[in-house]
Amino acid sequence: MKLSRVAVIGAGQMGNGIAQVFAQAGYQVTMIDIVPEAIDKGIATIEKSLGKFVEKGKISAEQKAAILGRISTSLSMEDAASAQFVVEAVVENADIKAKVFSKLDEVTAPDAILASNTSSISITKIAASTNRPDKVIGMHFMNPVPIMKLVEVVRGLATSDEVTGFVMNLAKELGKVPVEVNDFPGFVSNRILMPMINEAIFALQEGVASKEAIDTVMKLGMNHPMGPLTLADFIGLDTCLYIMEVLHRELGDDKYRPAPLLRKMVDAGYLGRKSGKGFYDYSK
Ligand code: CAA
Repeated sequence: MKLSRVAVIGAGQMGNGIAQVFAQAGYQVTMIDIVPEAIDKGIATIEKSLGKFVEKGKISAEQKAAILGRISTSLSMEDAASAQFVVEAVVENADIKAKVFSKLDEVTAPDAILASNTSSISITKIAASTNRPDKVIGMHFMNPVPIMKLVEVVRGLATSDEVTGFVMNLAKELGKVPVEVNDFPGFVSNRILMPMINEAIFALQEGVASKEAIDTVMKLGMNHPMGPLTLADFIGLDTCLYIMEVLHRELGDDKYRPAPLLRKMVDAGYLGRKSGKGFYDYSK
């Protein structure tokens, strides 16, 4: 199948990055969100990111304009109808994802492939809300999407070999490195990353060391680009808690219990960078 038109559902942190990388690779992209402000913010984020690439001489100002010209926006999922490939990047909520996929199943052509950027929700379950489970797949990008090379390509129980091969190639075309994984809670990325972040929060809660000390140990001792508490703020503490809850519930092992301090931070509305406060202060 030759793709020309792609739709991205959700203009948030991940959605706008995904729209950007498709447009950079030459695709016509429709970025869809139900909230007008989210679309405005999404486009502003893409402009800022492309601006950084222009400053660094990675692309020209003309290329930036052409990339932006390939992105259209819409407030209606009906506008995904002409897309042969759709990536969903809405909020991590299984019921909302099921509704989005059921609607996409209704409005898109029967041979369109429907991908989810979910970081922890079962692809098999999402696929079951459509009449084309063989064409539903996980395409899990990492934040910040324009920079990070990895795409986890997640096969649901019914995902076909053909669709998996197609998405693996597509990710390469976007300049990414795809890795095929099976549908298990947290896939590979969050099965390993989130327990590490959660353990860092336990260490902080138990007074093993200060937040700065914990982050410095992992940055300078293990060469991580960000310490685990800084990374948790970057990802969003609500997202971290949600993923730990999925791991705990679905793997049934108490080693995945979320740290009480993580829960307390989320209850207080300290969600990390996006709320201006998490383990660190971002209000300035
Ligand atoms: N668009 C364009 N350029 C960007 C950018 C963006 N959105 N974000 C950063 N950059 C560029 C910067 O301009 C800079 O470019 P140069 O090196 O050419 O100067 C470069 O990227 C590095 O940025 P900074 O100097 O600002 O800061 P940094 O060196 O700390 O890098 C980072 C930033 C790439 C985010 C780095 O800190 C990092 O890799 N952090 C870890 C990120 C990570 O682990 N992501 C995965 C999170 S988990 C996830 O996403 C999935 C999930 O399911 C939860």
